[in-house]
Amino acid sequence: MKLKERIKINQVSYTPRFYYCPECGSLILNTKGGREKKYCCGKPMLTGRKIPHTGDPEVHQPVIFRLEGEILVSAGEQKHEMTPDHYIRFIALESDRGIRFSWFAPGDDPVVKYLPGEQVIRIYAYCTVHGLWITEI
Ligand SMILES: [Fe+2]
Repeated sequence: MKLKERIKINQVSYTPRFYYCPECGSLILNTKGGREKKYCCGKPMLTGRKIPHTGDPEVHQPVIFRLEGEILVSAGEQKHEMTPDHYIRFIALESDRGIRFSWFAPGDDPVVKYLPGEQVIRIYAYCTVHGLWITEI
């Protein structure tokens, strides 16, 4: 009986959501849950699939692949450039336990390892020029 209670407490009971301001480009993560509107620059922020992205999916759309026995995630099938003006700032893995961010700097290799037992629901990749790309698992 106590075990069931413990599991219930540890479950994430909300969906964290990104919000994007089309005016200033701010990207925020709401960890509280709920679907109420968020505002920035006096206007409603965009969320979910309404968050715009541009560019080539080959270098942005998050993909999962296996390499030398490890399960990895990258932003796209092809390597994205990692220059100071244009790079993948983060990859975020959303699971039933929350969101795990990996931050990158110009020159880094934007690849993330799956953790053992991690049950990923969505993968986010954010390009400093082309915006937020989402892959549903
Ligand atoms: Fe890009």
